[in-house]
Amino acid sequence: MTTENLDALRDELLAEVAAASDLDALDALRVAALGRQGRITDLMKGLGQVAAEQRRERGQALNVVKDAVAGAIAARQEALETAALDARLVDERIDMTLPPRPQTAGRIHPISQTIDEMVAIFCEMGFQVAEGPHIETDFNNFTALNIPPEHPARQEHDTFYLPEKEDGSRRVLRTHTSPVQIRTMLDMKPPIRIIVPGRTFRADYDATHSPMFHQIEGLVVDETTHMGHLKGCLIEFCRAFFGVDELPARFRPSYFPFTEPSAEMDIGCSREGGGLTIGAGADWLEILGCGMVHPKVLENCGIDSSRYQGYAFGLGIERAAMLKYGIPDLRTFYESDLRWLRHYGFAPLDIPTVAGGL
Ligand code: DAH
Repeated sequence: MTTENLDALRDELLAEVAAASDLDALDALRVAALGRQGRITDLMKGLGQVAAEQRRERGQALNVVKDAVAGAIAARQEALETAALDARLVDERIDMTLPPRPQTAGRIHPISQTIDEMVAIFCEMGFQVAEGPHIETDFNNFTALNIPPEHPARQEHDTFYLPEKEDGSRRVLRTHTSPVQIRTMLDMKPPIRIIVPGRTFRADYDATHSPMFHQIEGLVVDETTHMGHLKGCLIEFCRAFFGVDELPARFRPSYFPFTEPSAEMDIGCSREGGGLTIGAGADWLEILGCGMVHPKVLENCGIDSSRYQGYAFGLGIERAAMLKYGIPDLRTFYESDLRWLRHYGFAPLDIPTVAGGL
């Protein structure tokens, strides 16, 4: 091939490159010119047949053409890529002024909602939220709460024990939220006014028991608190929570190792017609356990029981949620069934406050 022919080939290839309308077409051109069997590659391979005295000059001329074509392909490729990105950006533009999709997919679980509601009511009364770990020492979960080893109350708790440590001590999955009473009293000085929502664990599983469930604990300690405050606080709480202004309530004597005196609180209900309605009626429903903090418990935490006294209470969150929202089966709480969640769950932006409504 003569020098003029080489120039013609270069011009032809450059024109094709300039006309390539997309990256695929450009790549096909690259293969046809510079690929293993491309036109320029073929000419390079043919150099061996060229007379020795012309080979060098010919090789240089070929290299010039090859570089020109390769450079043109690279430039064209960059231009095409930039154009493709620009087109995509125009195509995928998002209109930020459009309203959000009306249908939010997530729902708040009834347990979360119930905890939020309870916290809203108690915080309005001046309580603070406290928390503690799920794995507890035997001391915090039992001994400090006036449940010494061999105390019969331990049997009732169906405790999950962790493997014994070398020193013979063993930790437990907390069987109630009451150990957070101990942690708080060891941690801060009275006056104390806390509520403790959280998970609790017992080795018990049937239609009305789950090995993991939730409680909310309350503790008030100061120098003037008496049983009247306990009653007033809990009656007020139940009225706000169930949304029944004239909710009847009664306190029955009971027994808990960590309170003295101890009581269980019942609220009025009606079972007429097979259903269950919270409010005035012929029946009573047990709702929580409570009492005046046992002086031994105060002393176990280094609080002078001749100067300070207080009250405490504990209630089951699932049970309260079932009563308030008419959820018939405990086990469904933990099944993560989306249909159940859509039915019993709550809108995420509907945050409970006492002022705004529960
Ligand atoms: N801890 C008790 C339980 O799990 C509930 C309870 C009863 C808590 C009386 C209290 C209380 O603080 O005063 O069954």
